[in-house]
This record gives sequence, structure tokens and C-alpha cells, in this order.
Amino acid sequence: MKQKGNDNINMPKMAVEIGGLTIKNPVMTASGTFGYGEEYSLNVDISHIGAVIVKGISLEPRIGNPPPRIIETPCGMLNAIGLENPGVRVFVKDKLPFLRQYDVAVIVNIFGETVDEFKQVVEILSSAAGIHALEINISCPNVRKGGMVFGADPDMAYEVTKEVKRSTDLPIIVKLTPNVTDICLIAKSVEDAGADAISLINTVTGMSVDIEKRIPHLKNITGGLSGPAIKPIALRMVWQVVKQVKIPVIGIGGIISARDALEFLIVGARSVQIGTANFINPCATMDIVRGIEEFLAKNNIADINELIGTLNEEGTL
Ligand SMILES: Cc1cc2nc3c(=O)[nH]c(=O)nc-3n(C[C@H](O)[C@H](O)[C@H](O)COP(=O)(O)O)c2cc1C
Repeated sequence: MKQKGNDNINMPKMAVEIGGLTIKNPVMTASGTFGYGEEYSLNVDISHIGAVIVKGISLEPRIGNPPPRIIETPCGMLNAIGLENPGVRVFVKDKLPFLRQYDVAVIVNIFGETVDEFKQVVEILSSAAGIHALEINISCPNVRKGGMVFGADPDMAYEVTKEVKRSTDLPIIVKLTPNVTDICLIAKSVEDAGADAISLINTVTGMSVDIEKRIPHLKNITGGLSGPAIKPIALRMVWQVVKQVKIPVIGIGGIISARDALEFLIVGARSVQIGTANFINPCATMDIVRGIEEFLAKNNIADINELIGTLNEEGTL
């Protein structure tokens, strides 16, 4: 899909290309933190975002984990939602039409407990209008089956990616978990299997205890840590993966400002996703688009692609 670019000749060019999909700017919403778009539409002009990535969708509806499912932590939050969602058919019928009204790329984040389930979800979505790419979540730490099981094993990650790729013509972004020993191994595997792009990171597994009651704060006991606390980990992993693969890499993790986003772009991410920041500031995505534009203009950079991957590793302050 080609989106309308920025027509103002004095403004820097912000469009980037991700696996055949050109988006008007590199800012995307991270799955699970922006609902299905409608929830934020009173605060955010959705047409100003590069892409909306919706909450993870599975074949059948899921009620998710029992509460409490969220707890705040210093510089972040732990969640164990467990991929609650209405199922792919309800998504296509009731949620997708809203997003079709906007000039924005719609990326559907999907999840399955088996390879076959992934394929069935992909087949249903591939015949629906208004979807521009799929993000394959092989990285959720809060479910017992599927999720991270695929993302932590290079062979399983390869298989699910290959089968999904075979089932659709849509660009495939594979989302990786940081909860592995060597993320580059998984990244190479999904690239070899035909992924069009890689996004990372999903949340970092953690836990938190109520010392008075001596119980875990989350009913699930463990949860996924997100927010500014994980940004240095995410940035390091993006930097490592960018060196290992030729396909575009999308940076995620703790980005709350344009400066954070610019760090990811400079280490080589082609675009970024904004997650937990949306809970602190519902306009975070728009503010970050504007902040990146201002940075480029101030530094006389005419096109964002001139900045991506320009980290000077030899340089010091
Ligand atoms: C409440 C919540 C729900 C999430 N749901 C999903 C999901 O359905 N699918 C997915 O791939 N990632 C999900 N994530 C992970 C985010 O998309 C993102 O990878 C992670 O939060 C790190 O980015 P952040 O620090 O900017 O939030 C969720 C995160 C949060 C906080």
C-alpha cells in the first residue's frame, strides 16, 4: 500500500518501507496497547500514525487470564492479560470496518496455539479487505501454549513462519521475544523461513510480590515487563539483530519520546512501535511523529532514511 506522503517540500520526508509496505512515517502502535484503534480515536488522529497494529487476534475468542492482570513497577508495568480477544471472525466483522475509514496501514497481530491455528487465522484475514500486513506473535510470555514456545526455539520459529508465509500474500512481520539466550539465532531462522520483517521486543518476563500478604501481585504469578525499564535491553537487541539480518527490523520497548524513537532508528530500526507510553499519554504516537520531524528539520536531514542505521560505533562524546 502506498500512503499519501508529506506534501510540504520544506518538511523532511518521513516515509519508510517495511517488507513491500510503504508507510507515511515510521511510528506504529504496539499490539495490545492501542486496542483496535477506536478506543483512542477521540484523542489521536489515526491518519497521522504510520501504522496501527491491533491487539493480538486468535482463531477463537479468548477470555485471557484471571485478574489481577496488571501491576505498575518502577519505570514500567507487568501484565499477564493472556491474549484476551474476540476471535478473528468478530474482529473482521466488528472491529476492522472502523479502521478502514482511515488513511493508515492496518497491521493485524496474530497468535495461535498450533501452526495449523496460525494458518487458519491467516487465511481468514487474507480474504478480508483493509489489512496491509500481519504481525506474527511468537513471543507472548503469558500463555501456556503457543506464544513464547514458538519464539524460543529456532526450528519452531522457522516452521511457523514458513507455514504462515505460504498461506498469504500479505507482508509478514515476525515478533520476537527477548526471553531467549540468543535472539540473533531466532532472527536468522525467521528470515530464512521467509519473514518480510522482524519486530522486537515483546515483554521481558518478570514478577512482583505483595510482602504483606506474601502473594504474587499477578494471579498468573509472572507477567511481561514493559515500559522505559526495558528500553536499554530492547535497544541492545535491535542493534544485535540489525547486524544479523537483511530484512527490515522494527524496534519496540520502552519508547516514550521522540528521542527514544530516534535511538532505535539510529541503531538501524526501520520503524518503531509505541506501547506502554500510550497508557501514560494517549497522544504519545502523534507527539513522537512530530518530535522526529522536528529533529530531522533541525539537523537538516531531508529524509528519515538518511538517518536510519547511522550509528557511529567508533565515536565517543
Ligand atoms: C497490556 C499489554 C498487552 C499486550 N498485548 C500484546 C499482544 O496482544 N500481542 C503482542 O504481540 N504484544 C503484546 N504486548 C507487547 C507490546 O506490544 C510490546 O511489545 C511491549 O509492551 C514492549 O513495548 P513497550 O515497552 O513500548 O510497551 C502487550 C503489552 C502490554 C503492556
